[in-house]
Amino acid sequence: MSADYTSGAAWMNAKVIPISDAKISVFDWGLTRSDITYDVVHVWDGAFFRLDDYLDRFMASMGKLRMDVGMERAEIRAALIDMVATSGLTSAYVSMVASRGTPIVAGTRDPRACNNHFYAWAVPFVWVIPQDVAKRGAHISLAEDARRIPINSVDPTVKNYHWGDMTAALFQALDAGYDTTVLLDHDGCVTEGPGFNIFAVVDGTVVTPKSGMLEGITRKTVMEICAELGIPCEARDIPKDVFLSADEVFTATTAGGPVAVTRVNERILGNDATGAITERIIKTYWDWHTRTDLNLKVTYK
Ligand SMILES: Cc1ncc(COP(=O)(O)O)c(C=O)c1O
Repeated sequence: MSADYTSGAAWMNAKVIPISDAKISVFDWGLTRSDITYDVVHVWDGAFFRLDDYLDRFMASMGKLRMDVGMERAEIRAALIDMVATSGLTSAYVSMVASRGTPIVAGTRDPRACNNHFYAWAVPFVWVIPQDVAKRGAHISLAEDARRIPINSVDPTVKNYHWGDMTAALFQALDAGYDTTVLLDHDGCVTEGPGFNIFAVVDGTVVTPKSGMLEGITRKTVMEICAELGIPCEARDIPKDVFLSADEVFTATTAGGPVAVTRVNERILGNDATGAITERIIKTYWDWHTRTDLNLKVTYK
């Protein structure tokens, strides 16, 4: 009988397996220390979008954390492609993970004495902001209490599982009826939200924070789209007040692309509909999913 991959597939120990069979040890430092890095690329309409950009970031993250999973970049790339080809998923959320792993000597506190390891998994496409919410425009709060963890404590350019700040902010936002939230840094500038970068349109310029956040691949794509469309775009510090008076706001993530925000705190932006600049960016983002230079077609098994 062939394996069932309808809920997803995983790549573990050089094998593609159904996602429900994928397991890690309770001793894994990825779990007990959040000592882990990951990356997420999507597959849309049977093709990986910007796979090499995601691999570049993932390899850099492993380097910054001094992890060696014993696999070359080309092997990781091949594992991802093999997993998706085997799964049959034509629109997927594809996660690649590098964990510090289990200690070689039980109970050690020495991060050098762990078996670093790589695994990956793919599930049907995930929308960080559900599609019905994206259609009407997301309602977001600017988190009041939880500030983004300082960059000299946890480097946000290394995609990570340190979500304590974002989960606290999410609870507060959801309790107050918002769809999601954006966190400030300790200087009162906007950073990012749980699973997405943030953009604002200020005096005709598309702006996004320049530091304190993951350097998102969707963020990079949005900046390239702006260049192509002739829309001024800049990465800069965005103080809270500037953000709260922006003309348009949108989120950006691999798990759903750019998504319009129509309300920030109590404020309704524009006419409570997707702004004109945001709309052009969203359209171009999805149009770019047919560009052969950015997309890698999967040959399914
Ligand atoms: C904290 C955080 N910021 C930003 C992003 C967006 O990055 P990307 O566009 O590479 O998905 C993500 C994506 O999951 C994220 O988790």
